[in-house]
Amino acid sequence: MRDIILKGHRISRNFGGLQALKDVSFEVEQGKIFAIIGPNGAGKTTLFNIISGFDRHFGGEILFMDKVISGLSSHLITRKGIGRTFQNVRLFNNLSVLENVAVGCNGWVSAKLFRSIFGVRSSIREENSIRKYAEEMLQFVGLEKKKDHEVESLPLGEQKLLEIARGLAAKPKLLLLDEPGAGLNEKEMESLKTIVFKIKEKGITQIIVEHNMKFIMTISDEIMVLNFGRKIARGTPKEITKNEK
Ligand SMILES: Nc1ncnc2c1ncn2[C@@H]1O[C@H](COP(=O)(O)OP(=O)(O)OP(=O)(O)O)[C@@H](O)[C@H]1O
Ligand SMILES: [Mg+2]
Repeated sequence: MRDIILKGHRISRNFGGLQALKDVSFEVEQGKIFAIIGPNGAGKTTLFNIISGFDRHFGGEILFMDKVISGLSSHLITRKGIGRTFQNVRLFNNLSVLENVAVGCNGWVSAKLFRSIFGVRSSIREENSIRKYAEEMLQFVGLEKKKDHEVESLPLGEQKLLEIARGLAAKPKLLLLDEPGAGLNEKEMESLKTIVFKIKEKGITQIIVEHNMKFIMTISDEIMVLNFGRKIARGTPKEITKNEK
């Protein structure tokens, strides 16, 4: 039996007269890499915003680990175990590389402790546990040497890896990556591939939106194709390639 971690049932989203998503249903299997592909404007990011609770004005239902999560706030959804990165990098430029990852720990650290780290009363012992975890995540994506750097000094490729480290810092069961390869050179794509496989080894399920087809075909277990807000195909990389021909 397939162990389904995330289920979308007839997801629809309108922006004024524009139907960004129309009756999209899908199932994501636990531990797998599920890719979403489709041309610009197909509705991929819209779907990510819906799953992660950033957009709550949609039709249909989302189930995460058999529980309805549609309608919950993004904060609660993060706490339940869904992490994400953004198509346009969203990092805090006034914080260091390490601090940006520490922000990701927000989901499992108590609000009181979190306040103590970013100012007010400092509690050294607990602060260390977060620092250690954030450093571990930086090491995971290969950025540990840059931990004290300013975010703006990092090239785009490293900023994208930093976003993944921050997403992982929340200890997600499901991670959504929105075009992690955009703007990366070939060497950076290779390290991204390694990181994605390492995340899979940890047992974390991933949904990845990406335009780089070579990358998608090598990493995905299953692919869903969207076009003008509609699901037009789903299958393994092999099945999708065969259909294209
Ligand atoms: N907040 C919004 N208000 C109005 N229209 C929107 C909004 N967000 C998205 N859209 C529209 O919905 C459609 C789907 O957009 P979306 O960003 O989901 O596409 P995408 O598949 O992620 O495309 P890309 O590959 O370019 O990132 C587009 O036509 C877009 O212009
Ligand atoms: Mg997008």
